Amino acid sequence: MQPKRSLRDRTAMNNNNGFKIGLFGANCSSGRAVTMVRERWPAGWDDNLNLAKMADEAGVDFLLPVARWKGYGGDTDYQGGTWETVTWASGLLAKTERLVVFGTVHAPLIPPLIAAKEFVTADHIGEGRFGLNLVCGWNEGEFEMFGATLRDHEARYEYAQEWLDIVKLAWSPRENFDFDGHFFKLQGVRAKPKPYGGTRPLIMNAGASPTGQAFAIRNCDALFSNISNGISFDETARHVANVRASARQVGRDIGVYTVGVVTCRPTAREAQDYWHHCVVDNADWRAVDNILAMKNVTPDKHPPEEFQRLRSHQANGMGGLPLVGDPDAVAQQMAQLAAAGLTGIAVSFVNYLDELPYFCAEILPRLARLGLRERA
Ligand SMILES: Cc1cc2nc3c(=O)[nH]c(=O)nc-3n(C[C@H](O)[C@H](O)[C@H](O)COP(=O)(O)O)c2cc1C
Repeated sequence: MQPKRSLRDRTAMNNNNGFKIGLFGANCSSGRAVTMVRERWPAGWDDNLNLAKMADEAGVDFLLPVARWKGYGGDTDYQGGTWETVTWASGLLAKTERLVVFGTVHAPLIPPLIAAKEFVTADHIGEGRFGLNLVCGWNEGEFEMFGATLRDHEARYEYAQEWLDIVKLAWSPRENFDFDGHFFKLQGVRAKPKPYGGTRPLIMNAGASPTGQAFAIRNCDALFSNISNGISFDETARHVANVRASARQVGRDIGVYTVGVVTCRPTAREAQDYWHHCVVDNADWRAVDNILAMKNVTPDKHPPEEFQRLRSHQANGMGGLPLVGDPDAVAQQMAQLAAAGLTGIAVSFVNYLDELPYFCAEILPRLARLGLRERA
């Protein structure tokens, strides 16, 4: 007998933590740090399994993988080795008890009914702890590997809308349905079983454009926004308030998360030195330049100083917010994000397994003392 779960339990990740913390990108070689240092993240299966168990026991709320099919080359073939995310999530859900594990799925690369059933399978393995991160794709080279066409930006989200509508119908209690859309015409669809516990998985999206954000507001429980370095507290608070207000206008409630890159050491000096060592002195600059070129950022299009700023930004955790400092400083930065209204953060480390114990021992209790998290 499955215990009933509400969608509210799901969006709260089954706990009362006011500021959620997840780990981002551990399914990819080198994770989010475009670095050549020897201890960069190997992302083997055992590494992922040990990390998931450690995170689960320490009270981390979620694991968020990156859907990446082709590495970025450079000296390390950055993110060249990646686990497919729904099977990765299924394996980790089987071996953990509390945390939510997301699968990150490119809607154009998999038929929605196969996807819906994979999600239901993962959700039952995890007894209701699977989450869906829906992405539309931006990397043309990856799509060419599948013989798929990257549609123009607006059409990507129109396609994703029909795709997600079908997934939600397949999850719904309906026994049979037809679907007559622009991209999909389906007849006599049946999809059983349904997701675990009488509700559906948590759905997130990380649209940054107005169209992408509107998609998340219409359809998702969580929006991941990149609150980059240099964006002020007021701007962050305004962004979160605007997203929430737009959701309320259509009768929805949405969590807003961001992405951080943590380098936490006993002293600020040690943290700064290690950060510099990894993502400045030993950045994989060739991989960084490949990534930027794919996004049409090249030296001929930007003044030298601006180009260098963009390179540094990319090397540091693919543009995530750097949280570099001693435990008090990192906890304080997180508290500021929470005060700006953010629901939570997905963080990465250079080596997740080496660095997570210190983070959990030092940061989580500080956030608990600030009233932002339950005690683990
Ligand atoms: C937290 C986060 C996770 C993302 N995960 C992926 C991913 O795994 N694969 C991918 O191709 N794009 C990923 N993206 C890119 C977004 O899906 C999206 O394409 C990007 O933010 C640009 O937004 P837009 O589509 O509104 O232009 C991610 C972005 C963020 C901020």
